[in-house]
Amino acid sequence: MNTLELNALYKSYGAHCALDNVSLSVPSGSRTVIVGPSGSGKTTLLRMIAGFEFPDAGRLSFNGQTLVDGTHEVPAHRRLIGYVPQDGALFPHMTVAANIGFGLATKGTEKQQRIAELMDSVALDAKMAERWPHELSGGQQQRVALARALAQQPRLMLLDEPFSALDTGLRAAMRKMVARLLEDAGVTTILVTHDQSEALSFADQLAVMRHGRLVQSGHPLDLYRYPEDEQTALFLGDAVVMPARIEAGWAHCDLGRIPVNNHRNNRSAQIMLRPEQLQLASILPSDPQDSGCRAVVTDRDFSGNTCTLTVELQPLTSSEQPGRSLLVRSSGMYAPPAGSSVQVSTIGHAHVLSEL
Ligand SMILES: Nc1ncnc2c1ncn2[C@@H]1O[C@H](COP(=O)(O)OP(=O)(O)O)[C@@H](O)[C@H]1O
Ligand SMILES: [Mg+2]
Repeated sequence: MNTLELNALYKSYGAHCALDNVSLSVPSGSRTVIVGPSGSGKTTLLRMIAGFEFPDAGRLSFNGQTLVDGTHEVPAHRRLIGYVPQDGALFPHMTVAANIGFGLATKGTEKQQRIAELMDSVALDAKMAERWPHELSGGQQQRVALARALAQQPRLMLLDEPFSALDTGLRAAMRKMVARLLEDAGVTTILVTHDQSEALSFADQLAVMRHGRLVQSGHPLDLYRYPEDEQTALFLGDAVVMPARIEAGWAHCDLGRIPVNNHRNNRSAQIMLRPEQLQLASILPSDPQDSGCRAVVTDRDFSGNTCTLTVELQPLTSSEQPGRSLLVRSSGMYAPPAGSSVQVSTIGHAHVLSEL
């Protein structure tokens, strides 16, 4: 089965609980991403899987074999798990080639050949072999660390924020390259990041951590569409959250009547839509009011292919209260200018958030 199972793991440092009842199943060959704000316990969890931290309670098994539980513990070097720590942690007194070849059992030409292959697989130029770590850029150092971990032919690869030292363009290219490389090698991967777009694009399973707890896990698209609560929703992207009354599969809210994905009746709840689920159509202020909601564009943030607009809903009654402000994401080229009167409609379902 080759599946990593984390079962009710706990870890405290003094009075601080770094991992609080974490359970997760990592399928063979998957790319699981653990995402969460800084200090949420991501590194602690990876180090525990690698064998550098030990749980206060809980069980960890891989491929049916117990790695650690209350009575038993497989040491890090016998787990066949590759680990690329957050800072790369290259040996500063060794060249690139020596770093990569550090754990290789082979010698002589065979070893040199294997190092060359590994460098090639992470797109490092052969000329870099004799360089020292301090002569490399952050991205090159990360690639050396990755090649060093791959040299062990691990069953599982753990990557702790591997792209954080890279600038945006290189980051996306590296992410694609690493994903392809690990997939070709058939290595199950767990990647840790605090970057939501990186998490959504790399993962086929996404796990969200907060305050040492795993708050939700699943397919990235499901988590983006159906987050458990408002904090998770906002961690994975912009969100429009508003109160509603739920009745017979419909939410009644400031945007009118919207279908919902949750059929619990007759209750008040917070609903969530992603800003790209809101659509704007230009109208003239003098146009007769028909069905739908009217709003005025109060702000426009153009970012090339998309544009994020803030619209203020026209109050339904003629009260003095200003209308609710909402975020709308539309195509960059066709977004209406600030000050325009628009009609707001929605696409798809609204998601009913859990009560906190
Ligand atoms: N060795 C340690 N001793 C004491 N506290 C620690 C230690 N390692 C981590 N922590 C604490 O545990 C929490 C989780 O840390 P960490 O796993 O590094 O979070 P993340 O990687 O999500 O930023 C933090 O509050 C951190 O300060
Ligand atoms: Mg960390």
